[in-house]
Amino acid sequence: MGRIAYVNGRYLPQSRAMVHIEDRGYQFGDGVYEVCEIRNGDLIDEARHIDRLHRSLKELRIGAPLTRAALAFIMRQVIARNRVADGYLYVQVTRGVAARDHSFPLGNVRPSLVVTARAIDPAKGEALAAKGVAVISLPDIRWKRPDIKTIGLLPNVLARQAAKEKGAYEAWLIDTDGMVTEGAASNAWIVTQEGVIVTRRADNAILRGVTRTTLFELVAAQGLRLEERPFSLTEAKAAREAFLTGATSLIMPVVLIDGEPVGDGKPGTLTISLRSHFHDVAKASR
Ligand code: PDD
Repeated sequence: MGRIAYVNGRYLPQSRAMVHIEDRGYQFGDGVYEVCEIRNGDLIDEARHIDRLHRSLKELRIGAPLTRAALAFIMRQVIARNRVADGYLYVQVTRGVAARDHSFPLGNVRPSLVVTARAIDPAKGEALAAKGVAVISLPDIRWKRPDIKTIGLLPNVLARQAAKEKGAYEAWLIDTDGMVTEGAASNAWIVTQEGVIVTRRADNAILRGVTRTTLFELVAAQGLRLEERPFSLTEAKAAREAFLTGATSLIMPVVLIDGEPVGDGKPGTLTISLRSHFHDVAKASR
């Protein structure tokens, strides 16, 4: 069965799903997106993803394409029509179609909405997590508002490609002070030798990950120690454990940073435990 996409009011086979060549997302990267985990047919942390979508839209002064209820209905339709049990849902909203001009189009231009879903085998993620992943470090060359989840991802694309070419899973981006901001498509975390979990504050320099927010709840429920502060690459390399978080990676142990082992070079026990309990606190909805 071919995949079905929702595009501006219609459900279409992906091979026939199209957007206009003057869509501002296509021409300027003028749009935002969300990626939400689908697990056993449920959406995971849907409300937090949709809240963040609305925040991103507001920051860019793009109108909501539909009501929350209508979008929720379409998201479920896309999951059902693609028969996805495990995988992820992609939602993209752009400023819409207008004659090319950098400033916002005049008049009532309708935002474009695309929703797709993709099945992924959860066993693959589990196998990866059992071994842990490698990351490389790269300068963070992104703009100053990575807190907005925009589709303008060229620096992230280049960073991920560089990681792939080095046999790594992710690139950790480093600010001008030598501190880790986040991964190209995930948030970055360490566990210090004292057992303190550390991740950067969600300021304008990083995306406030939904997985990150939900993990905070798990950390609090388990009475673990957490510090929201920047950490340097040097501190990360000397950490007891390291991991990354994101809707598609969940909580993924990091065992190598720039080719150097973290701790004993195996997934950390705390990281594994957090991964296994993540869905106890994440909200499932259908
Ligand atoms: N990426 N930081 C960046 C730059 C991201 O792109 C993502 C998510 C995250 C983690 O956010 P969350 O926990 O809400 O997924 C952090 C998605 C998965 C992507 O681009 O595919």
